[in-house]
Amino acid sequence: MVINSDMKMADLVMLDIQILALIQRLNIPLGFRDKTIREVCTEHDVNETFFIQLANACHDSDYVPKEQQLTFPPECMIRYLQSTHKDFLHYRIPSIEKQIAEIEQFTDSPRNPELLLNFFREYISEFQSHLDLEERTVFPYTLLLSQCIREKTLLPQFSTEFGEYNIDRYMHEHNDIEEKLFDLKNILIKYMPPPTDSRKYNSLIHDLFHLEKDLNDHTDLENKVLAPLVRLMEKELQRII
Ligand SMILES: [Fe+2]
Ligand SMILES: [Fe+2]
Repeated sequence: MVINSDMKMADLVMLDIQILALIQRLNIPLGFRDKTIREVCTEHDVNETFFIQLANACHDSDYVPKEQQLTFPPECMIRYLQSTHKDFLHYRIPSIEKQIAEIEQFTDSPRNPELLLNFFREYISEFQSHLDLEERTVFPYTLLLSQCIREKTLLPQFSTEFGEYNIDRYMHEHNDIEEKLFDLKNILIKYMPPPTDSRKYNSLIHDLFHLEKDLNDHTDLENKVLAPLVRLMEKELQRII
């Protein structure tokens, strides 16, 4: 099903609960009553085209926007990705780390949870490096590229800072950040001794699956929406200069 602006915002959340995280990252408050997506976006100053592309990409993992649908300001996209990074780093990941740290309270073998925690902390450090790299390269690159197009000129700082950089390089270097979570799920489900309290243990497994799905969606968004958008901007800059 393709999401459009005439749909009611509340119906969209009922249709796909994943959209709730997207709404939160855009700082849109709940309490939609019967307002449409268009009305809610206007009320909260969210670019409607951007919201529709975002919602479709989140709802359908096979969704790829057409070139003519990439007409929203790139700044919206970068703000959204930055907000998602913060959400992962300051909320989702620490919450799972806390749950892993608590495993020893409901298992009989204290050594295993410690190994698991070290494994997850290694993952956090790799994860942080992935996010840091994007925040130092592709995000500022996109914003500066957008400024060059707006001002119809090749700004000197663009050539100095990003002379050798382009979106193909980003795509080449862009790796999956959810792979290690698969290993963690495997250890928890297959190899850890049975827990004494399986409710908390199962809740951790459930949260890991959820995080993995969200990370997958995030990577998809960067590959299927951000990259084509930036590629179009690169062509536009070539045309201008
Ligand atoms: Fe990212
Ligand atoms: Fe990424």
